Amino acid sequence: MQDYSELGARIAALTEGETDTVALMATVVCELHHSDDRFDWTGFYRATEPEVLKIGPYQGGHGCLVIPYSRGVCGAAARTGEVQIVDDVDAFPGHIACSATTRSEIVLPVRNSGGDIIGVLDIDSDRPAAFGPADAEGLGRILSDVFARPRS
Ligand code: SME
Repeated sequence: MQDYSELGARIAALTEGETDTVALMATVVCELHHSDDRFDWTGFYRATEPEVLKIGPYQGGHGCLVIPYSRGVCGAAARTGEVQIVDDVDAFPGHIACSATTRSEIVLPVRNSGGDIIGVLDIDSDRPAAFGPADAEGLGRILSDVFARPRS
């Protein structure tokens, strides 16, 4: 069982005082990816222009470079502002397969301190139905602690 509180405390210590979004994303991805055998691809997509996501820091195999808000699990999370837990990617209409081995996925919107969506966190697993509500809650807390904290 993943201990998201312990993971969150480690990430908070590693990112203390840092305000650069790419530096924060790179550190969060590294710690998440190496914390759990279920995580086969871990990465951020950034909202670089209206209705467009562009790849950010990631770990794992190749990641697609650009995703419109109208497509994929990532697009759905950015468009709706809602966490997407997909037990079977083949059953998700419009799923974008960057890797042929992915079976399930979780995608969370990332918000800044103003509540604006600045991107999404995408985690893929080669196992079916790898993610659940505890993951959404634990990952969501880490994202708000790091990206929604007031910037002095
Ligand atoms: N599967 C995602 C695309 C990104 S790859 O998983 C890295 C999607 O459907 O949006």
